[in-house]
Amino acid sequence: MPPLRLGVNIDHVATIRNARGGPRPDPLRAALLAIEAGADGITAHLREDRRHIQDADMARLKATIAKPLNFEMAATDQMLDIATLIAPHAACLVPEKRTERTTEGGLDVVGAQGYLAPYVDQLRRAGVRVSLFIEPSEEAIRAASAIKAPVVELHTGAWCHAVEIGDAALAEHEFSRVKHAAAFAATLGLEVHAGHGLDYDTARRVAALPEIVELNIGHFLIGEAVFVGLGEAIRLMREAMDEGRAGALAS
Ligand code: PXP
Repeated sequence: MPPLRLGVNIDHVATIRNARGGPRPDPLRAALLAIEAGADGITAHLREDRRHIQDADMARLKATIAKPLNFEMAATDQMLDIATLIAPHAACLVPEKRTERTTEGGLDVVGAQGYLAPYVDQLRRAGVRVSLFIEPSEEAIRAASAIKAPVVELHTGAWCHAVEIGDAALAEHEFSRVKHAAAFAATLGLEVHAGHGLDYDTARRVAALPEIVELNIGHFLIGEAVFVGLGEAIRLMREAMDEGRAGALAS
């Protein structure tokens, strides 16, 4: 089974910083600490409304961190220009609505294939590894493959929400969608990532899916950092992921 990478999303360090308007807490410091604690990469979302990460943060991250930077972005010309300039290791195209609190669903790849294809193409030409943040469905995966995205990130939000509200039947249904989607995407030769709403328990479980090679996790880790510190939260997350992977190997 391939190793499972942990991408730590530091957006919400910037959310806290921006609440006061000063320089603290610095998302770059969080990124460096995350890497020291075991993160394999850093993920940051430069939203169009700049509600958390700012343009300067992206440039500082790219210039400073020694691990891959994953630039989450809407498919717009402005974001494409910035991504091309910054040249991150990876870019993850996400849907963006100004009124949403977080990225609520996956990209409508089926309906927007024609719109998205040039963004995938131009990012690939710029040497950036492109992923599409999608619902765990066969249609979305087929559409992502058709526009030559090399990577899909499966949205785990519906599953994690069902777990959170204690709806066991719905949670099982949503988990089986993620499981099936991961296996299906791999049969098409796509690299498979997953993320959104993951905590220690859900990360442990999803880590057992052998096709998934990267998890991107933010909100839970930054929340846990208040209680146990960011380094410890990341170490515990790494442990949960490794347990899930090892359990799958043993079974
Ligand atoms: N992956 C993608 C594409 C996202 O948009 C987000 C949220 O910004 C995450 C992963 C991380 O989600 P969470 O903050 O809920 O862990």
